[in-house]
Amino acid sequence: MDDPRPLADLDHWEEDLLRRYPDPAGPEAAKPAAAFRDYAAEARPSVRRFYELNHRHQTVDFVRAKRAEYLGLSRMRMGIWQAMEYLNQLVDDSDPDLDLPQIEHLLQTAEAIRAAGKPEWYQLAGLVHDLGKILCIWGEPQWAVVGDTFPVGCRFSERIVFHEYFAANPDAGREEYASELGIYAPGCGLGELLLSWGHDEYLYHVVRPYLPEPALAMIRWHSCYPVHREGAYDRFLTDHDRELLAWVRDFNRFDLYTKRDARMDVGALRPYWQGLIDRHFPAEIAW
Ligand SMILES: [Fe+2]
Ligand SMILES: [Fe+2]
Repeated sequence: MDDPRPLADLDHWEEDLLRRYPDPAGPEAAKPAAAFRDYAAEARPSVRRFYELNHRHQTVDFVRAKRAEYLGLSRMRMGIWQAMEYLNQLVDDSDPDLDLPQIEHLLQTAEAIRAAGKPEWYQLAGLVHDLGKILCIWGEPQWAVVGDTFPVGCRFSERIVFHEYFAANPDAGREEYASELGIYAPGCGLGELLLSWGHDEYLYHVVRPYLPEPALAMIRWHSCYPVHREGAYDRFLTDHDRELLAWVRDFNRFDLYTKRDARMDVGALRPYWQGLIDRHFPAEIAW
């Protein structure tokens, strides 16, 4: 009953995002816009089940425990390309032939950013942005690695997809966490909020010493759709956060809308990307 891995493929969450946020330049955009409610009603059962688990279990206590467990970065040391190959072990159960290897999603995103003429730091943000999914290899359940992220410690916004599932979250019934502000002060800044645990926050801490602030914002908040797409939690944002969120939104199109691009020739592309990696990162970093 309580299957911890409802998604047959970790990427089904991101594929589902495409239903919610269709590519404005893609074929879905020609269809009449589906209301948010219809979106939820039409989600496949595994995706619904995934959100049910995510919304029930992401609590302040859980997030604090995971931060304590992982943010000391004492698990291993490896370089960026090595981490890309390490992540590539992640192969899902269903349709391994149809499954895009993780390394190719990273390269598709990064190559699209490169083709758009963006600077090296922006290209690198694309190359690394999902490396935090190695949490799955270390045994974290899907609902603690992917999925939309959102603040814990204050009232769960109704603009979070499948909001109704928060009824089963123990924090929803705790007075100190259930108010509009919860444990935070108005205007405290996005970086001060404890976000639900996942691949974004983890990777942000791994690469923080090496990339500029807009790249770190893209990495840290790319799954925070309630904030960067739905405009929720504005009461906590600073003007500087709003500038950074413009970068996050700019990045989002490369992340979401490149998945159907041509397969990547990993060997042929490696020299270019290794050059960029070597200019911005040491040979090994702490994970
Ligand atoms: Fe991601
Ligand atoms: Fe991604």
